[in-house]
Amino acid sequence: MNIKDFDKYKKAEKSISVVTCYDYWTATIIEQSDIDAILVGDSLAMVVHGFNSTLPADIELMALHTAAVRKGAPTKFIIADMPFLSHRKSINSVLESAGRLMKAGANAIKIEGVTGHEMTIKYLVESGIPVMGHLGLTPQSFNSFGGFKLQSKTEEAVLKLIEDGKKLEELGCFSIVLECIPDSAGRRVSQALNIPTIGIGAGGNTDGQVLVLQDMLGFNTGYTPKFVRKFIDGANLVKSALNEYDSCVKSGEFPGEGESYGG
Ligand code: KIV
Ligand code: NA
Repeated sequence: MNIKDFDKYKKAEKSISVVTCYDYWTATIIEQSDIDAILVGDSLAMVVHGFNSTLPADIELMALHTAAVRKGAPTKFIIADMPFLSHRKSINSVLESAGRLMKAGANAIKIEGVTGHEMTIKYLVESGIPVMGHLGLTPQSFNSFGGFKLQSKTEEAVLKLIEDGKKLEELGCFSIVLECIPDSAGRRVSQALNIPTIGIGAGGNTDGQVLVLQDMLGFNTGYTPKFVRKFIDGANLVKSALNEYDSCVKSGEFPGEGESYGG
């Protein structure tokens, strides 16, 4: 997968599969899978570091995790999130931040929203940094939204979403994440745009899907949104393995002869 393939997939009506990844060992597994692209999302602040929002992620943390993922997945297309406020600073500061993510191994960066940073997006694209957009529920703005809620519920809001999507396309974004919007809104934005949309909680008519890896593997034992499918029951599989190890250690069954150095 390279940047040109995003276009090709949309033209061929071939869905794009994306998962988040934040670390080296998981990346080595994704590298061996058919997944098209990896998102080093700022959701890592919540999933890996236990914060209750994405706001505590900063560029240092994003670059560190991006570098780990790149080492584990040398051939995959990697998109890294620009963290909270990092794209709302002076253009030199934004360029420096985006540059750090690219040097850490990202192929592209993702920026939430559009209003107020149109010129920044254009400048980054012109600087050779592919930019993915992100509309609908943009978690960095949860304080403005009053929580993590379904967006674009009115006709007016859907028209604004389509307008914002077109704006991002004109500014040079190669793709756009659509998060937590009604199925019909996801379909209408996807049809209105030439660049592919990657949905999360945006229904089945976007040009691709993205899920948080720990959600789709069933490792998230807390609140699970409606749009998540657990493809394995990760938490219980791991818990069983841990309990089996515990019991083998306590019974003396582990380590066995073949697991010890003789002599
Ligand atoms: O940070 C993240 O995981 C994301 C996805 C939910 C799109 O931005
Ligand atoms: Na994110």
